[in-house]
Amino acid sequence: MLEWLQTTHYSEWVRESWGWAFALTIHAFGNATVVGLMFIMGMRLFGFFKTIPYTSLNKLFPFIWVAVLFQFFSGFTLFMSKPPRYVRDGVFDIKFSLVIIGLVLLVYFQKMLKSDAAAWQAEGKVTSKGVRLAAVACIVWAFVIVMGRLTAYLGSLYIA
Ligand code: HEM
Repeated sequence: MLEWLQTTHYSEWVRESWGWAFALTIHAFGNATVVGLMFIMGMRLFGFFKTIPYTSLNKLFPFIWVAVLFQFFSGFTLFMSKPPRYVRDGVFDIKFSLVIIGLVLLVYFQKMLKSDAAAWQAEGKVTSKGVRLAAVACIVWAFVIVMGRLTAYLGSLYIA
């Protein structure tokens, strides 16, 4: 199946035309948007940027979710260049699992902000639960970036 995917026109287009450069460019902007905005929200909960109201952080989610869609499209396109290698390496699997964990945390984080941000704003501080969730989400997304880089550069070292 994976070998077959590599023989499709789409896979050929990614390897031999402008597909690779196109997908990698979108992936880079997606990284900046998803992980960058997650970190801005995290830093606000850790006590930075005090002039930004907690409630206004909710406005960042539409940008994040649109960027997530672009990440899946561009990530799938990059993956199509050589599916057997990515699956054999193991690093891609770890990165993909972290993306799923990161997205689950993002859903919880969004729910929490929606229900609690107004109270945090009124009290002038975030609950420790909020800080903990933001910290875990930031750490997971940081590791997605690390494993993404390793998928690109170290993956081939795992081939026997
Ligand atoms: C928000 C989610 C994601 C983030 C933050 C992310 C992050 C990254 C990063 C930082 C890289 C290294 C890019 C570079 O070389 O500069 C990368 C590469 C890669 N990503 Fe993602 N990624 C995400 C989602 C996905 C998804 C959903 C897929 C697959 C369906 C995917 C497939 C890949 C592949 C195959 C590579 C390796 C490209 C190569 O060999 O050079 N990514 N990713």
